[in-house]
Amino acid sequence: MKISKVGVIGAGQMGCGIAQVCAAAGYKVAIYDAAPDRTKAGIAGIDASLARRVKSSKLTEEARAATLSHITAASDFAQFSDCDLVIESATENEGVKRQIFEAVTPHLKSECIIGSNTSSISITRLAATTGRPERFMGIHFMNPVPVMELVELIRGIATDETVFKTIQAFALTLGKTIAISEDYPAFIVNRILLPMINEAIYTLYEGVGSVTAIDTAMKLGAHHPMGPLELADFIGLDTCLSVMQVLHDGLADSKYRPCPLLVKYVEAGWLGRKVKRGFYDYRGETPVPTR
Ligand code: 3HC
Repeated sequence: MKISKVGVIGAGQMGCGIAQVCAAAGYKVAIYDAAPDRTKAGIAGIDASLARRVKSSKLTEEARAATLSHITAASDFAQFSDCDLVIESATENEGVKRQIFEAVTPHLKSECIIGSNTSSISITRLAATTGRPERFMGIHFMNPVPVMELVELIRGIATDETVFKTIQAFALTLGKTIAISEDYPAFIVNRILLPMINEAIYTLYEGVGSVTAIDTAMKLGAHHPMGPLELADFIGLDTCLSVMQVLHDGLADSKYRPCPLLVKYVEAGWLGRKVKRGFYDYRGETPVPTR
């Protein structure tokens, strides 16, 4: 099956990254967000990201213009009617995702494949909300999407093999490497990464080390490109908490208990970089630890 046009739902950091890599690979892209202002800001962000690459001679001006020309803002799901693939990248909340799938599916042509960029939620359960579970699968990108090499692919119980093969080939055209995961809570990357981040937050909560000590320890002591608390802010603390809740509920093991300090930060609205405050305060020139 040939993919020419991709619809992206959600213009947050992941949705915009997905739109950018698809457009850069030559696909037509329509991006939709429930808040039209976010779509506008998201496309401006993609433009800025491409401009930085032109400035550092990593991209030509022509390639930047071509990539941008492939992206349009969709104001409603009717504009997805000619999409061959739709990738949902909304907030990591099962209720929100279910509502989106129920709303978008009637507008799609029957052969359109639906993918979810969920970080943790059951693909089989999400697929059941679409009425076409055989054309549904997990397509999990990593943040920042233009930089990270991996895409995790997850089959639901009903995913058609030709659909899987089509998406496998599609991901390769984006220049990504694939890891295939079975459909269990948080798949592979987040099953391993998020408990590590949660443990770093427990380490802070129990006073074993400060924010700076924990991040320095893991950056210089384990060669991680970002410390776990910096990475938590980068991913978004709401997403980190959602993933831990899915692991805790889905696997029923107390080792996945979300740290109360993570819960507190989310309740405070300190969600990390996107709101300029999390384990660091990003409102000034350099990030300052908040504890
Ligand atoms: N968007 C787009 N490009 C970005 C970017 C962003 N947010 N941040 C950095 N980049 C690009 C830069 O432009 C630069 O590109 P270039 O080499 O073509 O010039 C390149 O990345 C390297 O950037 P820098 O030199 O400024 O910065 P670093 O060397 O510090 O690298 C990083 C930045 C790649 C983000 C690195 O810190 C890193 O790998 N961090 C860990 C990221 C990670 O673990 N991601 C996975 C999170 S889990 C996940 O996403 C799953 C989800 O479901 C929760």
